[in-house]
Amino acid sequence: MSILKIKNLRVSVEGKEILKGIDLEIKTGEFHVIMGPNGTGKSTLASTIMGHFKYEVTDGEIDLDGENLLEIPVDKRSRKGLFLAMQYPSEISGVTNADFIKTALQARLPEGEHIPLFKFIKTLDKASNELKMHSDLPHRYVNVGFSGGERKRNEILQMKILKPKFAILDEIDSGLDVDALRIVGENVSSMKNSDFGALIITHYERLLDYIDVDCVHVMLDGRIVKSGGKELIAQIDEKGYDWIKDEVGLVDEPINVIGKVSVGTCAVKNVLDTGNGTNGNNKNR
Ligand SMILES: Nc1ncnc2c1ncn2[C@@H]1O[C@H](COP(=O)(O)OP(=O)(O)O)[C@@H](O)[C@H]1O
Ligand SMILES: [Mg+2]
Repeated sequence: MSILKIKNLRVSVEGKEILKGIDLEIKTGEFHVIMGPNGTGKSTLASTIMGHFKYEVTDGEIDLDGENLLEIPVDKRSRKGLFLAMQYPSEISGVTNADFIKTALQARLPEGEHIPLFKFIKTLDKASNELKMHSDLPHRYVNVGFSGGERKRNEILQMKILKPKFAILDEIDSGLDVDALRIVGENVSSMKNSDFGALIITHYERLLDYIDVDCVHVMLDGRIVKSGGKELIAQIDEKGYDWIKDEVGLVDEPINVIGKVSVGTCAVKNVLDTGNGTNGNNKNR
C-alpha cells in the first residue's frame, strides 16, 4: 500500500496565498473527492501536488510513502507514480498521442529496456476501445483539434496506460455529454484496486453516480473545511455550499457598489469596488 500525505500545505501564486493549510491523506485503494466553488484552490492543489513551477509552496509537506515530493521535479513525481488529468489539457502539435504515451511509458523503464511495440499497440487499442474513442485519435497530434470531451477522454486514456499509483483528476467531467460522462466514470471506476488511489475534483454529482468514492472533502477559500462520506455529495447537489459556509462561519467578502453606468436605453449596471483600486467586473445586480 502507498500513502500520499499532505500536511499543512500553504501555496501562493504570484504573491497571493491561495492554499491556506491543507491536510489530506490518500491511500492506494481509496477514491477521495474534492468539491468546492470556483476559485477556491482545487486546481492549485492539483498543480502543486504534481509540481507546477508557478505554485510556490510557502509551508507544509507533500510526501509519497515518506519521501518528500517537494524536493523532486515533475517528471520524477510522475515516475514515482503520480498522474494529473488536467482541467485544461494542452495541445502538442507534431507529437502523436501514441508517441506521447509510448515515450512516457518508456521513461519509466530502466535504461536499455524498451517497450515491446506490438504489446503497446494492443494495449493502446484496448484502452481506446474501452473509452469508445474514435479510432484515429491515438494517431492524431495530442489534443490538436480534439473536442472538449475528446480531450478529457484522452487524459483518461493516458491514465489507463500509465497505470499510476495516484491520479488526480481535475474536473474530468466538465464538457462531457451524458454518454461520455458514463464512459469516463465507468473507466475510472474500473481502475479501483489496491494499487491505485485517486483524488477526484468535481463540481457535480453526476460523475460520482458511476464511481464509488470513500471520502468527500469540501474546499472553501483555500481550506478543506468539511470531510465526510458520500452523503455530502447529494447534500451539496441539493443545497450548494452556503450551508457549509454558515456552519464554518465563512463570510463572503463584501463587494461595494460605488456607482452606476448606463449600458443602453433601459439598463444600468453597478460599478463595483474590487478593493484593489480598479473597477471590477460589472455584474448586473
Ligand atoms: N497560474 C495562476 N496565476 C494567477 N492566479 C492563479 C493561477 N492559478 C490560480 N490562480 C488563482 O488562484 C485562485 C484559485 O484558482 P484555482 O485553483 O484554479 O481554483 P479552482 O480550481 O477551485 O476553481 C483563483 O483566484 C485564481 O485566479
Ligand atoms: Mg479548477
